[in-house]
Amino acid sequence: MLSIIVAKSRNNVIGKNGDIPWHISEDLIRFRNITIGHPVIMGRSTYESILKKSKKDKGGLALEGRTNIVLTKTIKNSFLKTDNNLFFVDSKDKARQVAEKSIESEEIFVIGGESIYKLFFSDVSKLYITEIEENIEGDKYFVDFNISDWVLESIEFRVVKFKSMYLKWKYVTYVKNNLHL
Ligand SMILES: NC(=O)c1ccc[n+]([C@@H]2O[C@H](COP(=O)([O-])OP(=O)(O)OC[C@H]3O[C@@H](n4cnc5c(N)ncnc54)[C@H](OP(=O)(O)O)[C@@H]3O)[C@@H](O)[C@H]2O)c1
Repeated sequence: MLSIIVAKSRNNVIGKNGDIPWHISEDLIRFRNITIGHPVIMGRSTYESILKKSKKDKGGLALEGRTNIVLTKTIKNSFLKTDNNLFFVDSKDKARQVAEKSIESEEIFVIGGESIYKLFFSDVSKLYITEIEENIEGDKYFVDFNISDWVLESIEFRVVKFKSMYLKWKYVTYVKNNLHL
């Protein structure tokens, strides 16, 4: 099964200048807890952005404890497997093939960015959305999807005080409508 995990603002922003324009530690921990062990599929820009923020050298691996599958047409040695569960692939089909051969592939996570969410959206069965309850300026957006195609599975509201302001967000999961037929 393919799932998307994303953090977005109320106005659908997911990124700005190659990064995510907010920092919620709790959400990063949740992201890790949900994806750990499973294959993760990402675009080359997201891969580079995660690597840039990483404090330690992980031999090119962006996310530890997960098979990292990076879509790219510019990094050569397509379909190359490095020693540490890092794969560069040049098509959606190859990304799926590699993911399906990996461990814990009963759930495969599509982790962004904008182009990769668009590419896989029609194939995914579950959405894990962290929605920041604010409009935020950015230059990358999540898919503008039709909510009636999805069934709400769970929702959890969160709020933290940041200086004198309150930041509100929610964790929402949806499953594809036809899974309930
Ligand atoms: N809020 C969130 O949850 C979240 C999650 C992830 C990312 N983000 C943000 O999203 C932004 C990045 O999104 P983005 O759309 O610019 O970049 P991206 O989707 O991460 O990566 C784009 C790159 O992926 C490769 N690619 C895309 N489609 C492909 C295909 N069909 N076949 C082969 N390779 C393909 C290309 O790499 P080559 O150019 O090498 O060919 C392309 O330049 C950043 O701001 C990031 O911080 C946010």
